[in-house]
This record gives sequence, C-alpha cells and structure tokens, in this order.
Amino acid sequence: LASTEVDLSTIPLGQIVTVKWRGKPVFVRHRTPEEIKAAENVPLADLPDPEPDSKRVQKPEWLVIIGVCTHLGCIPTGKAGEFDGWFCPCHGSTYDVSGRIRSGPAPSNLEVPLYTFLSNTKIKIG
Ligand code: FES
Repeated sequence: LASTEVDLSTIPLGQIVTVKWRGKPVFVRHRTPEEIKAAENVPLADLPDPEPDSKRVQKPEWLVIIGVCTHLGCIPTGKAGEFDGWFCPCHGSTYDVSGRIRSGPAPSNLEVPLYTFLSNTKIKIG
C-alpha cells in the first residue's frame, strides 16, 4: 500500500500503536502532557542529532515516526530506555519521547514519515 490511514480515536492517551506502511513499522504515539513537556524542554545541546520537538510533530499530542532504528535497522521497543521513549534491543540505542537519538550507536533520530491529518482523528501516512 502506498499510503496507510490511521484512526487516532482508538489510541488511548499514553499508548503507542504500530502500523505497517510500505513494509515498515510506523509508531503512532498519543503523548501525554508530561511527555510533550519533556520532549519540548530538552536543550538542543543535549541531542546528538539536534532537532526541536516542534519540527518533528504536526500536533504535539501525536508523534508519528518510522520504527526502524537508524543504526542497523532493528525495531526499537516503546516506552523503554532511560528517556522513556524507545530502546533498541540490538545494540542499546535509546530514543526519547520525540524519537530522537539520545545514546548508543544510532547516528540519527527516528525518521518522521510524510503524513497528513485528514481530520482531527485521522491521519494518512504516505
Ligand atoms: Fe538499533 Fe543497532 S540496530 S542499536
């Protein structure tokens, strides 16, 4: 499928859903106010691949990222690792609640795919 639609109304606050898009997992995370604040408050100087949270989301409560570790392509585990974002079990990279690389061998942030809000509760990825 060239594009995938996701019904956001079925994703409870604080939960992550994984959907398939072009054979890859995409993580859709319904972020809590605390997670949003944590993501926004990280000093850019602390980031190996500096990118403000606001550049990675269209709406702060919804994070949409490709679930493929930028090191060697494993699938990271959600709500894990030191920053409560993702932890890659293969070689220990940790990502924050914005999907940004924070420690470990991965060189860059988890990629944000092209997506569009079709309504307040529906996105189309791709
Ligand atoms: Fe994720 Fe190596 S593939 S840390």
